[in-house]
This record gives sequence, C-alpha cells and structure tokens, in this order.
Amino acid sequence: MRNMTELKLWTFQRDDRPAEMVQVPHDWAITGPFDPDNDMQIIQIVEDGQTSRWEHVGRTGGLPHVGFGRYSCMIPGPESPERCVYLDFDGVMSRSKVYINGELAGGRHFGYSSFRIDAGKFLHSGDNQLEVTVENPPCASRWYPGAGIYRPVRRVEMDPVHFGHWSLVVRYLPDTGSLLLTGRVENRTGQTQSGTVTLSSPLFEQDSWDCRIPSSGYDFVRTLKLKEHRKWDVEDPVLYPVDFRIVSGAYSDEETVRYGIRSCVFDPDRGFLLNGRRVKLNGVCMHHDLGPIGAAFNRAAAKRQLEILRQMGCNAIRTSHNPPAPGLLDLCDEMGFLVMDEAFDAWRIHKTDNDYATFFDSESEMDLSDLIRRDRNHPSVILWSIGNEVRELHTKGAGGADIARRLREIVKKYDRERPVTAGMNACEDAIENGVAAELDIPAWNYRPQKYHLFHKLFPHCPVIGAETLSTVSTRGIYYFPAREYRFGFRPDRPEKSELQCSSYCLDVMGWAMTPEAELLAQDMDESVAGQFIWTGFDYLGEPTPYYSEWPSRSSYFGCVDLVGLPKDLFYMMKSQWVKESPMVHIVPHHWNWKAGQKLDIHVFSNCDEVELFINGKSCTRKYRTGGSSDLAERYRFIWHDLAWQPGEIRAVGYRKGEVCTEEILKTAGAPAEIRLNTGRCTCAADGEDMLFVEVSAVDRENNPVPDAKTYIRFDVAGESLKIAAADGGNPTSTELFHLPECSLFSGKAVVYLRSTGAVGKTVLTASGEGLAPAQIELFAEKTVQA
Ligand code: GAL
Repeated sequence: MRNMTELKLWTFQRDDRPAEMVQVPHDWAITGPFDPDNDMQIIQIVEDGQTSRWEHVGRTGGLPHVGFGRYSCMIPGPESPERCVYLDFDGVMSRSKVYINGELAGGRHFGYSSFRIDAGKFLHSGDNQLEVTVENPPCASRWYPGAGIYRPVRRVEMDPVHFGHWSLVVRYLPDTGSLLLTGRVENRTGQTQSGTVTLSSPLFEQDSWDCRIPSSGYDFVRTLKLKEHRKWDVEDPVLYPVDFRIVSGAYSDEETVRYGIRSCVFDPDRGFLLNGRRVKLNGVCMHHDLGPIGAAFNRAAAKRQLEILRQMGCNAIRTSHNPPAPGLLDLCDEMGFLVMDEAFDAWRIHKTDNDYATFFDSESEMDLSDLIRRDRNHPSVILWSIGNEVRELHTKGAGGADIARRLREIVKKYDRERPVTAGMNACEDAIENGVAAELDIPAWNYRPQKYHLFHKLFPHCPVIGAETLSTVSTRGIYYFPAREYRFGFRPDRPEKSELQCSSYCLDVMGWAMTPEAELLAQDMDESVAGQFIWTGFDYLGEPTPYYSEWPSRSSYFGCVDLVGLPKDLFYMMKSQWVKESPMVHIVPHHWNWKAGQKLDIHVFSNCDEVELFINGKSCTRKYRTGGSSDLAERYRFIWHDLAWQPGEIRAVGYRKGEVCTEEILKTAGAPAEIRLNTGRCTCAADGEDMLFVEVSAVDRENNPVPDAKTYIRFDVAGESLKIAAADGGNPTSTELFHLPECSLFSGKAVVYLRSTGAVGKTVLTASGEGLAPAQIELFAEKTVQA
C-alpha cells in the first residue's frame, strides 16, 4: 500500500531573519521589497547585440531572491521498519540540500528539476526532522527565478515491493493499434519475491500475470491491443486512466498513469499532424512565474493563464527555458495544449556568471534524463528541447555539435518517439558548425525570412519558429506617430521618460522580426509547423528595452500583461488564430484624446472588411488586401490621420458583405465608480484554489476610464478567502504585490484571492478616493473541483 502526503506547512527562515510558518509551494522573494540592487547584473547580453558590459537592473525582477533560506518540518518515520519512505520534490529554487535528522540525504543544484530522496536510512520511528536549505547566488538567471520550495513536496511511503520512480511508461503504437506498457518493480526485501502484476484500463482487456521479483528488481514489457477509444486532441483532450498494480504476498503498490491516445507526425511538407490532421502550432513561450503571486506553483493561477491564452487561439506552449512544474503539464493534458518541453538555457558556456553552465558537465545527464522520465507519459508533450540559444551555437571550437549529439542520445534512451529540437538564434552558425544537423527538428528563433531556405537545407522535417516576434508593448499605452515599425531601442523615444512601450504592435526588438513578417511566413508555407511567440504573458524580469532604467522590472513582450489582462497584441494574434467567431479590435483601445488630435487607427479583425464610424459618420470601409509588404493591411486595417472628436468610435466587421460584429469605444468622463468582475466566483475550499477579480474604474455612464490611476484598497469580510496579491500590471510599479492595495494601471487591476480552506462566503470590497466603492460576493465550497 502506498500512502502519499503533501508536505505543506513548514517553518521558514531567510538569512538572519526571524522564523515564520509558510505554506509550500512558497516563493520567499515575491513579497519584495523591490530594489534595483537586488541582483543588479553587470553583464553583456551578446544575444541582444550589446558590445560591452553594462549595469542591468530589474533583470531578475528587482526582487530579493538572492540569499539563503532554510525550511524545516517534522515528518513521521515509516509505519513499520520494512516500509520505504521517499520525499518527492517537484522543484526547489535552487542549490537545495535536504537533511533528515541533521544528516545530508540529498539535494539538487538545478532549481527546475524534480527529484526524489530515498529517506529510508535516515529515518527512525516517530517524529523526524526534515530540513531543506536553499542558496541562490547572484547572476544565476536571466529572468525572475523565484526562491525556495516553490513547487509541491510529497512524502511517499510504500511497501518494500513497489513500482520504480518514473518507471511506468505507456506508449501508443499507431501502426499496430496497440499500447506498449513498460515498468519496473523494485524489491527492497533483500530476497526474491513472487508477485502478480495487473494492468487495467478502459483502453484494453485487463492483463495480469505472475512473476518472480529478484532483489535487483523486475522489469516488464507488455503489448496490449487497444479497445475502441477516443483520441486525445487539442479540441477534445480525452484522458484515460491506466492502472498498474503489483501484489506480492502482504505487499502491494498501485500507480495510475493518465494517458491520451494521439498520433503526432512532423511532416516535412505539411507541418504538424495530430491524429493525421494538420494542426498549426499557434504557440507561445512562457516563463514559469505566475505574475504577482510569483514562482510558487498554483494550479488555479496556471489554469487561468492557459484559459486566457486559449481565448487568443493559442494551442501550444514552450516551457521556456526549463523543465516546467508537473502540474502545468497535467493542465496541458486536460485542456488540450501541445508542449515543447525545454531542458536548458545554457550548456557549458555561461550567459550569466552563476547559471546552469556551472553544473552542466557534471549534472546535465541527470537533469535531462529526469526530465524525460518524468514527462514522457504526457500526451501534451510533443517535442523535447535540449536548449535555448546556447552560446555554443555561435562560439567557434566550443563543441556544440558534440554536446547536442550527447544530449539527443540521452533523450532517445528514455523516449524514442518524440523529436528532439532546440531553439536557435545563431541559425547560420549552427548550420555551419553542425549543431542544427544533430537535431531531429532544428527550430529557429526570429528568422521567418529564411524559413524557405532552412526547409531546403533540412528537407526531412517541417520548419518551426521556436521563438518569434519579441514585440514590446504596454497595455493601454500609445505613442505617436504610429506609422511604421521601430526596431530596437532608441534612446530618443518619447516613452523613455515613462519606461513604457507603445501598444500598436510596431515596436520590435532589433534581433527580431515584425509580427507581420512572421505571420506571413507562417501563412505562406504549409511546411511551417507553427511558432512560439515570445511571449504569451509578461513575466517578471528581463525588462527589455529598459535594461538599465529602474524601476522597469518586468517584461514588455507579452500578448497578455503580468496580471492576465490582454494587450492589443493578444487581439492581433486572435484575429489570425481564431477563425470562426468574428471579431474586431480597435487600436488605440480607448477614445479619450485631445481636441484636434489626429490619430492613426488600426483594427485587428478576422473579418473580410471593416468599416469605422466616428460619431456615426463612416470613415470608409476597408478590404483585407492580400498584400505582402510591411503594414500592407493584410493583418491590420489602417486609417490614417483621423481627427479625434469626443463621442464614440465604432468598428464594424463584415463577412461576405454582411455585418457580423462590432466594437464601440466611448469617450469616458471622470472616474466615478469601481467595477468588480470575475469569471468564476466559487472556488474549492482546499487552501489552494484561487479566484481572480478584475477591477476597473468607470465614469457615470459605465464607460471604462482608460487612464485612471486611482489607488484602490481591498478588504475582505468572511473567512473563506484571503487576498494573495493585487496589481495593475504596470511593468514599472514597485508597489508590493501581496498587500491588499494597488494603483489602477490604464484603468484596471486584478485581485488574486486564495482559499483559506474554510467553506463559506467572503465579500470583497474595493474603495478608492473619489470613487463609489464596489463589492462582490465570492464563495469557497467543499464540492467544487479546483
Ligand atoms: C531570446 C531569448 C529569450 C528572451 C528573448 C527576448 O533571445 O531566447 O529568453 O531573452 O530573446 O527577446
């Protein structure tokens, strides 16, 4: 029998501060305070074209993740001396050491790896002390890594005969219509045992056999004919349980693998085929932080991110640039997302002084093997990436091809099915020095103009844009003129004084390509399997293009801002990725300008024609042109120099000459009231589930006020939910996330509330100076599923 307990309550002490009780998953740095000296890095970012070392502030979020932390809790010893006890860590950031009763039992340098500690020989009966230390050096990351035990930890107790860790594998064999099931039974009794293994699932007739289990363990392989089943698909992600059971005398163990039957083919001419059907990878890259609640994994917050991305038409995630939380892959399985599962951001050559390169030689085999063994049963995972923009790609004599070959072989040892790829920036060098040829599918960063050439060079596989766009923008912020693309950082930009980026989707980093160039390359060629936009959400850290300008502390790359509010880029992508339901989206996305101001209006739409009306007067109807030059109205409808007048602007979308949708933006008056909105108002009373409330300021007529900055205070009445964070998504804000107050940014903010574990109603009240307050009723129930 297997008993599993999640270890949630720990005593935590950071550096020399007083100890406190915390709930794991825990990220000690997210409560701040922000400070430009936190992990200030004097570095040269060669990837961004920097030719010397500069001071970079906010690169890892300006939050205090550097330092030493100590977690402790008491755990029981085994129920009987023969029982085995393991501690499973999903991830500890970073350089963890695990002590049991003062003795070092294990640990892991790489903060993104999951690992198991065999606790047996360190435990005695009764209470035992478990301690985990964490050490985060400066200059170890290019983005906010989080700090501490930021993913779940479990104590797992089993009989001495049990299934091996990550040993159970289910594989669909499409050619024979069968399943291959493999696994290992461990035997810690010291003597050969006899046993019966039983495999059961709605997918096949139950299979059961007797076996001898030597003390060195017993490996099995079975091939079973599949019964009638539904396929796992992005639109219908059906999962089936596959139960493994071993009984050996009084000992037993059971484990369930959730599996989805799907076939994946990367076809050189037709791109990616899921169950034989062409599915374009409409993907985004995502770092692991969850915005204002930090890196601590939370299923509800991760699910919300995926739900928002799904509304954009996104169907794929690249876990840039490291192993994800296992819980994220569970969600991708359940929700029908396809995943590029990535291992490393650096190989042997450092990008920052203390990054993974420090451990690459000694630990990459272990970390990569663990990733593949952990994740290979997930139907969502379709590609393994062994690295992102590693410097071996362009460093002569660095042996990049040899390393790529070695890493690919490690992957193949545990999974022969999925292709191995890597995200490459120095594409031309990687082709010349042979790194690209070592990959099953080379994947390219920011090279849409060369896709056809790459396809000629690697005709055995389709083209994938592993990283695309790098378009920077801030929600609700617009600067003029908005007539042409602007590449790279120009210090004379008007927006520099505010450290924001204009949201017209025209500002593109120097090494990147315009959104239009990528969309065109994606559309023109069937052999392009898809792309992964940099990025789906804004993330903490890497505040490009404001490398040295505090308080810029989070990224501007997202289609969605840090708190989950869509930017205009979201609608640009939606207009291309969501075909069926018609949409129009006006940019700039508000109608509060200066008298006489001339505006360039862009509309993102999936309709054939769009007509604009200002105060009821038509400003001409525009057709989608097939043009392929920049800004040729293939991907946006554009009107130049429209004179602003107070009132309203209306965009009307037509399909086949018929009106099918419209959007109206009205000039807002002074902010008068607060509005609270939530998609979901009931959560599970499990101490973890979350609810997210959108806050906005509206005028007397209920129009959102686009520039409202009011400082809002939040109060909760009730025991079932507490405020975990409140934030407006402003990349330059140094307000503390976890306090129940924040300034609205571009008229909005989001409050994150977490279940306390108690059942019942909680009323959230929001109040701010000069505004009528607002209330919303929220509930936590035992019966709701998180
Ligand atoms: C890429 C890199 C990403 C991020 C991005 C910013 O070069 O792979 O991690 O830094 O640029 O544009």
